[in-house]
Amino acid sequence: MPAVPPIGEHLEEIEQASIDELRALQLERLQWSVRHAYANVEHYRSTFKAAGAHPDDIKDLADLAKLPLTSKSDLRDNYPFGMFAVPRKEIVRLHASSGTTGKPTVVGYTRDDLDMWATVMARSIRAAGGRPGDILHNAYGYGLFTGGLGAHAGAEKLGCTVVPVSGGMTERQVQLITDFRPDIIMVTPSYMLNIIDELRRQGIDPRTTSLRVGVFGAEPWTNEMRKAMEEQLDMHAVDIYGLSEVIGPGVAQECVETKDGLHVWEDHFYPEIIDPLTGRVLPEGEKGELVFTSLTKQAMPVIRYRTRDLTRLLPGTARPMRRIEKITGRTDDMVILRGVNLFPSQIEELVLGMPELSPHFQCVLTREGNLDALTVRIERDERATADAARDAGRRVGGLVKRVIGVTIGVEVTEPDTIERSVGKMKRIVDRRPAR
Ligand code: DLL
Repeated sequence: MPAVPPIGEHLEEIEQASIDELRALQLERLQWSVRHAYANVEHYRSTFKAAGAHPDDIKDLADLAKLPLTSKSDLRDNYPFGMFAVPRKEIVRLHASSGTTGKPTVVGYTRDDLDMWATVMARSIRAAGGRPGDILHNAYGYGLFTGGLGAHAGAEKLGCTVVPVSGGMTERQVQLITDFRPDIIMVTPSYMLNIIDELRRQGIDPRTTSLRVGVFGAEPWTNEMRKAMEEQLDMHAVDIYGLSEVIGPGVAQECVETKDGLHVWEDHFYPEIIDPLTGRVLPEGEKGELVFTSLTKQAMPVIRYRTRDLTRLLPGTARPMRRIEKITGRTDDMVILRGVNLFPSQIEELVLGMPELSPHFQCVLTREGNLDALTVRIERDERATADAARDAGRRVGGLVKRVIGVTIGVEVTEPDTIERSVGKMKRIVDRRPAR
């Protein structure tokens, strides 16, 4: 594995601050952000009033729990520009997340917001092991999705040579990786798997590329996937997290020297974990739904925004900021089968333990009578025989039964039969008829 370059002189001041300094800065910024939202967004004014809350209530950070939560439906109800806290003319960029149903969620940025975003993205790439002068292959999608342009601005700000490839045209991705010899690749983990397949198809050993670090995010991926990718690519694989409503990529980043979860850039985004059912704030270390409050955003401040992502908060290690554990899934990706909760990431862990199976899989939900059923379709690894792969598939089914406690179907398919993603992979295919 390539050596990790020393970071010492590259750290920002805030990355070396004491916890007390960080908390003091957060309180000052939180008070500003809550006032800003209340003064300029009708939605916050009315929900605060309904909850009997007021910006003056925020005397310390724990007081945040007194404010109402915000959800995606609040953003939808105020489509397109109702959540903006500055005049539309001060908004220099819009992004939108597609969503599977209905209207997209629109987010806006002032010039200062874009600058802050580039700063946290540059910090993220640096924490991942990137340095000024590196060549960075950016295969996150450009457009309304925040991945491409977000990573792009951060990489430029850090001083990298950016190759703005976007997603898709996998053959060309391989050609550019071979010809330009990038140090860093930024891409969703599922699309990286397709690039690995294409490298092999062209007779290139993925371990021989120039890549030193992969910065993977925008969808859940497991530590087993990290191990598999690091081995196949002979490079470091680190996790990047973010969501459009909060800013885009660069909300939290795993440091390459520790690879122990993602440090939240808490000087700009304040995290809480709540019980998704009751909304109660949970103590550090307990697992629940991640909630963010923006501390410095101008165009679209978010107050206690429910991400639907499940994780827990842990103390800082490589940086003073707290970490989130790798995200296991979203509340809306959870499959409930006969009362048992199951996430695609649990299937991923098991599939990656079987060399006879490829990492390409999909979870298909159907209904038989009144009962929901799950069939996991997994591609055979090219190097395995059909018999051996079928056997491995049966073992996956057995492990799910034993470890998770529920019966599922497993279908092992031939290579190249499962739909490929160029961005976020659709892990769950819901074929259940509407009730
Ligand atoms: O996916 C922003 C992003 C782009 C993050 C590139 C990282 C890299 P959205 O399209 O709004 O924004 O989707 C946000 O994606 O709430 C999570 O459910 C999921 N997600 C993002 N990063 C991770 C990650 C971008 N590292 C939603 N692990 C979030 C697990 C992730 N899930």
